[in-house]
Amino acid sequence: MASQISPLCLLLLSLVYALLSSHSTSGAVSEADGRKEYIVYMGDKPTGDISAAAAHTNMLQQVFGSNIASDSLLYSYKRSFNGFVVKLTEEEMKQLEGMDGVVSIFPNEKKKLHTTRSWDFIGFPQQVNRTSVESDVIIGVLDTGIWPESDSFKDKGFGPPPSKWKGICQGLSNFTCNNKIIGARYYRSHGEFSPEDLQTPRDSEGHGTHTASTAAGGLVSMASLLGFGLGTARGGVPSARIAVYKICWSDGCADADILAAFDDAIADGVDIISLSVGGSTPHNYFADSIAIGAFHAMKNGILTSTSAGNDGPNFASITNFSPWSLSVAASTIDRKFFTKVQLGDSKVYEGISINTFEPNGMYPFIYGGDAPNITGGFSANTSRFCTRNSLDPNLVKGKIVLCDELVSGTGAFLAGAAGTVMADRGAKDSARPFPLPASYLGAQDGSSIAYYVTSTSNPTASILKSTEVNDTLAPFIVSFSSRGPNPATLDILKPDLAAPGVHILAAWPPISPISGVQSDNRAVLYNMQSGTSMACPHATGAAAYIKSFHPTWSPAAIKSALMTTALPMSAEKNLEAEFAYGAGQMNPVKAVDPGLVYDADKIDYIKFLCGQGYTTQTLQLVTGDNSVCSEATNGTVWDLNYPSFALSSFTFKSIAGVFTRTVTNVGSPVSTYKATVTGAPIGLQIQVVPDILSFTSLGQKLSFVLKVEGSIDKSVVSASLVWDDGVHQVRSPIVVFVVATN
Ligand SMILES: *[C@@H]1O[C@H](CO)[C@@H](O)[C@H](O)[C@H]1NC(C)=O
Ligand SMILES: *[C@@H]1O[C@H](CO)[C@@H](O)[C@H](O)[C@H]1NC(C)=O
Ligand SMILES: *[C@@H]1O[C@H](CO)[C@@H](O)[C@H](O)[C@H]1NC(C)=O
Ligand SMILES: *[C@@H]1O[C@H](CO)[C@@H](O)[C@H](O)[C@H]1NC(C)=O
Ligand SMILES: *[C@@H]1O[C@H](CO)[C@@H](O)[C@H](O)[C@H]1NC(C)=O
Ligand SMILES: *[C@@H]1O[C@H](CO)[C@@H](O)[C@H](O)[C@H]1NC(C)=O
Repeated sequence: MASQISPLCLLLLSLVYALLSSHSTSGAVSEADGRKEYIVYMGDKPTGDISAAAAHTNMLQQVFGSNIASDSLLYSYKRSFNGFVVKLTEEEMKQLEGMDGVVSIFPNEKKKLHTTRSWDFIGFPQQVNRTSVESDVIIGVLDTGIWPESDSFKDKGFGPPPSKWKGICQGLSNFTCNNKIIGARYYRSHGEFSPEDLQTPRDSEGHGTHTASTAAGGLVSMASLLGFGLGTARGGVPSARIAVYKICWSDGCADADILAAFDDAIADGVDIISLSVGGSTPHNYFADSIAIGAFHAMKNGILTSTSAGNDGPNFASITNFSPWSLSVAASTIDRKFFTKVQLGDSKVYEGISINTFEPNGMYPFIYGGDAPNITGGFSANTSRFCTRNSLDPNLVKGKIVLCDELVSGTGAFLAGAAGTVMADRGAKDSARPFPLPASYLGAQDGSSIAYYVTSTSNPTASILKSTEVNDTLAPFIVSFSSRGPNPATLDILKPDLAAPGVHILAAWPPISPISGVQSDNRAVLYNMQSGTSMACPHATGAAAYIKSFHPTWSPAAIKSALMTTALPMSAEKNLEAEFAYGAGQMNPVKAVDPGLVYDADKIDYIKFLCGQGYTTQTLQLVTGDNSVCSEATNGTVWDLNYPSFALSSFTFKSIAGVFTRTVTNVGSPVSTYKATVTGAPIGLQIQVVPDILSFTSLGQKLSFVLKVEGSIDKSVVSASLVWDDGVHQVRSPIVVFVVATN
């Protein structure tokens, strides 16, 4: 946590740069012949008789004649939207860019993966009210696959899949679906599999098994990671069905595969899509596979729940931010892990890690900088960080190694060390397992320990097993959770809300190393992970829970219900305030009965996109209808019916914004809501007109205007609007912030 907030300097310039350079080649899948894979996105699903693949091939032949090899077409999307993936030179790409029907062309890049107590912690107990509809809800999990034999996915008591289900089980060898996992497919647009990759929907990584069980796993008692986190593991909707779309492999998650999975998942009939994956640079909405997929999902009534990203705590580090999807930040729960290091001089230091190893007496203690692998060309300058291969096994074998940086532990582990003590200035708010006994300490403790190690003749140490402690500061947003503002549209607040994403226990394949380090052979059925990847499926589960009570609600209504009922979080714990936690920590029990919702459909997003400068031509392709951008449909950002309010300014003074919103009554038919604005600092006036809304029926819509005016003296200022009828408190965060360009 930073102690002071400066204006969001440099932010805007770097964002504009990043968005404009959407043809960047970083991570793109390239070929030896100078051709690279590009995704050609063509909007809504194709109509007419001609097969999509034939149409796509025709199109390529028109432009390139016979220069285009027929096998260069890697995918044709057609079930839910239109587009294809093709290998092109940069010149060919530019020619194609001008063709009719093409919305955008962007390189096929690799995205990356972004972890039972958590449900209880947020006030969602096992005995919560449930409806029988829950077993009709299908969650599409786009991830690393699944371990179908896990106890979390047993189908005892489940009937056959809901009749709307049109998916398949791409079982091939040794993978079978059941009535819990009702579908499974895998996507690999190109070539080589590494030995760890299983060419089935089976998960060898662990991530997909973990996220799927967090969203919809059944109840499994006495689950723990080798004793830690002992309790009942469960998903948010234990009766819901899971459809698996494996898009991530050991080398990442290709955009082409992500889009292929969306194309199928939407047409297969899933109700909610969960995607704990993201890129590393922000892209404009229609140059990003996840934003495109989520747009078509939204058009089909499907909410896409996404992880904010793990690139925090810098501002604008969020990578999934489209207004039609849910962007989830990671908050802590009331457990943390401490790991003591005892030195030969009997001093004890406390670090963090999830250390499952029992201590076994004192070991010799050596500084990594004193043990370089000289034959490998390493010096003290690198071995002090204990990176892979940098340590000399003859010097570290059977010893505990002190390292000047947090690393995966691979270097020390492969060199045969008995343990590792790592120290640096990094955040200490999430602990993780390492392949060997390990503890991670602060830089100051690190210096004291280094002094002991280098000034004592026979230094020794012991690393104790971790202790699980109640973190009474929880919930707060963990430092790694990506922050807003939204890089593409500053005045749409992102992330939307927070869900538990630290020290989450969930199902794990017994073949996957718990520390992520290959030869770590501890086999477990439940593992503890941290990431916005773990927060996202909590929100997915909560969204599915709401869907089971309100099957007809739109994605925006579900999202609104989750946001307006969230528990407000503290700007004292997270100085980035709403840019860390959005509306706050989700509360699924309350979200089932939100009173009012801020609904939005395709038309609302089209108006928003018109205002963002997208043309009629582009929008007609994307929507597949005759939407037009005119003055009448030209929506400003402030008028998109979003359940939160964000207002950016280039100065601290003369700030002004007028937001229009419409709320739909989903509470009591006859009800009167009164508006209250709280938290606004002196100098900033926030007015709501009208400030009373009287409803006489369910489904009735009433509009209001929220006016913000005045000046602020901090870069980020928060307030809230609450509509209250005495039963429901419908809360929206308001954030006003200053963006500097230098
Ligand atoms: C569960 O449902 C019952 C009956 O509808 C209701 O009285 C009760 O308040 C509900 N409990 C919760 C926690 O929503
Ligand atoms: C199928 O998978 C299970 C679970 O990993 C494994 O135990 C079994 O040996 C596999 N069988 C074959 C034929 O690969
Ligand atoms: C030393 O470094 C070289 C070069 O990276 C590597 O091949 C070798 O395996 C390392 N030795 C050990 C014992 O790690
Ligand atoms: C190692 O670090 C020292 C001190 O910072 C520096 O003088 C030296 O050039 C470095 N050696 C290498 C090989 O980088
Ligand atoms: C942690 O402490 C809080 C408040 O003291 C308590 O409500 C909570 O149940 C405790 N959590 C655990 C896991 O014991
Ligand atoms: C919509 O508004 C934007 C921004 O104010 C403007 O650039 C654009 O020309 C407008 N488009 C139409 C069709 O009015």
